[in-house]
Amino acid sequence: MFVTEKKEETLLLVGGNTTNGSEILSYLSKDYRVLSAKTGKEAYELLRLNEIDAILFDEDIGDISGESFFKEARVRYPDITRIFMSESRDDQKVMEIFKAGAVYQIIPKPCPPWHLRLLVNRALESRELARRHRFLSRELKFSDNAFRSSKDHMVKLLRESYEFDKLVFASDAMLNVCNLARKAAPTDLPVLIQGETGTGKELIAKAIHGFGSRKAFPFLVQNCGALPDELLQSELFGHKRGAFTGAVSDRLGLFSAADGGTVFLDEISEVSPAFQVSLLRFLQEGEIKPLGADKVGYADVRILVASNHPIKERVEAGTFRKDLYYRLHGFEINIPPLRERVEDIPVLAEYLSRNYAETLNRKIAGISGQVIRHMQAYSFPGNVRELETEIRRMVALTSNGEFVSIEHLSSEIAQALPVDDRIKEQSYINEAGTLKEKVERLEALIVTQCLTRHRWNQSKAAKELGLSRVGLANKIKRYQLIAVGKS
Ligand SMILES: Nc1ncnc2c1ncn2[C@@H]1O[C@H](COP(=O)(O)OP(=O)(O)OP(=O)(O)O)[C@@H](O)[C@H]1O
Ligand SMILES: [Mg+2]
Repeated sequence: MFVTEKKEETLLLVGGNTTNGSEILSYLSKDYRVLSAKTGKEAYELLRLNEIDAILFDEDIGDISGESFFKEARVRYPDITRIFMSESRDDQKVMEIFKAGAVYQIIPKPCPPWHLRLLVNRALESRELARRHRFLSRELKFSDNAFRSSKDHMVKLLRESYEFDKLVFASDAMLNVCNLARKAAPTDLPVLIQGETGTGKELIAKAIHGFGSRKAFPFLVQNCGALPDELLQSELFGHKRGAFTGAVSDRLGLFSAADGGTVFLDEISEVSPAFQVSLLRFLQEGEIKPLGADKVGYADVRILVASNHPIKERVEAGTFRKDLYYRLHGFEINIPPLRERVEDIPVLAEYLSRNYAETLNRKIAGISGQVIRHMQAYSFPGNVRELETEIRRMVALTSNGEFVSIEHLSSEIAQALPVDDRIKEQSYINEAGTLKEKVERLEALIVTQCLTRHRWNQSKAAKELGLSRVGLANKIKRYQLIAVGKS
């Protein structure tokens, strides 16, 4: 394998044993980072570990035919531009490859290197135009100047990512969440933000405040889970001197301090019935009664609340007041767990690692695709916060200028096998277990293979399997199937 110095776009030259092979390599290296593989095996390994923009396949490679190589590359890496250099003068054979592999160009050999350089330039230009077209169509759909393409100041993996305030994402699920937050922002309604720990509830709350009319006023946060009732009441509403043991002086509460701004109440599901009553009164009348005071005061504060548990369940269980619940969910925003939006993992990993590397004053070359695939197979119970900690550790372990790679992964995540790899192992079905478990594994395998065949087009896969779309979605969820290598 041979790697030239790092440039913007990466070419994979497969074969290249022709007479002018080294000339081609040095020509292309002027514009691109060029990886070169002498065998098909080497080529697959490089594809797996790198983000490649174009493949140049030189026909005379020993261990694999151009046709089968492109067939596989087309399915697994549909985004890569494929160019085939052929010696063949047999029209039919060349056309077969063209159809089967959907190559962008077939170039007769020998080809002068300057011509090849022009062709590769053109091919990547047209790929970039197609990419921008896709991106703009999507932008148009969600036309909103809060979102902007991050391409200009972010790298490779962030190709189609969005930012909303401090949130970075690529999934439609998060796009919907942020669109809703954006709509909620200019209103003065309370917002109930729900999601597992570490999903970004506080970031969303800050963004709502930042995009609303109160942004020049304070945004104050109170965690309601950790405090005994009296202390929580006093934190928020304030107290008079002597109101309780330890109240040695008057204290202004958070609501008064945030007058004109926003108060974010975290872990709202944990508050006591007495506190629920006070909060309801505040929401209805803006009334503040400090502990031990006989006069009420007023504050103009917008309330945003968050919960790790669905509040509705607490309402049904009778531990959370229904009237308060209805007051609080002017808007309800539910942030899905990270494992249900694995498309966000590459962009988050890239963003978090760049950020952290910067604070360490270190340069990393990127994150290997293999690391991302393992991360996408892992369940992340701690969501983005857990990903953040993992990335920080990995960046700290990576030497300057190197890729964050598989050996830096924590063993827990390294053990999460990407579905693709797992199902390749014959023994997978026969692992110990009851008949039911084995049948389920077989079912997961069949569904995965069908989905892979249809490049995760769920309508087509459901049709082939004789399932409804909902039925298929349930199986994907149940077996936690993940689209590996999906474009
Ligand atoms: N989409 C995102 N883009 C960038 N960073 C994110 C994103 N989502 C979460 N984070 C980061 O992950 C960490 C956890 O986010 P946050 O504190 O908002 O989560 P939370 O849902 O409030 O968690 P908890 O329930 O534990 O309070 C923070 O460091 C935050 O910056
Ligand atoms: Mg939080």
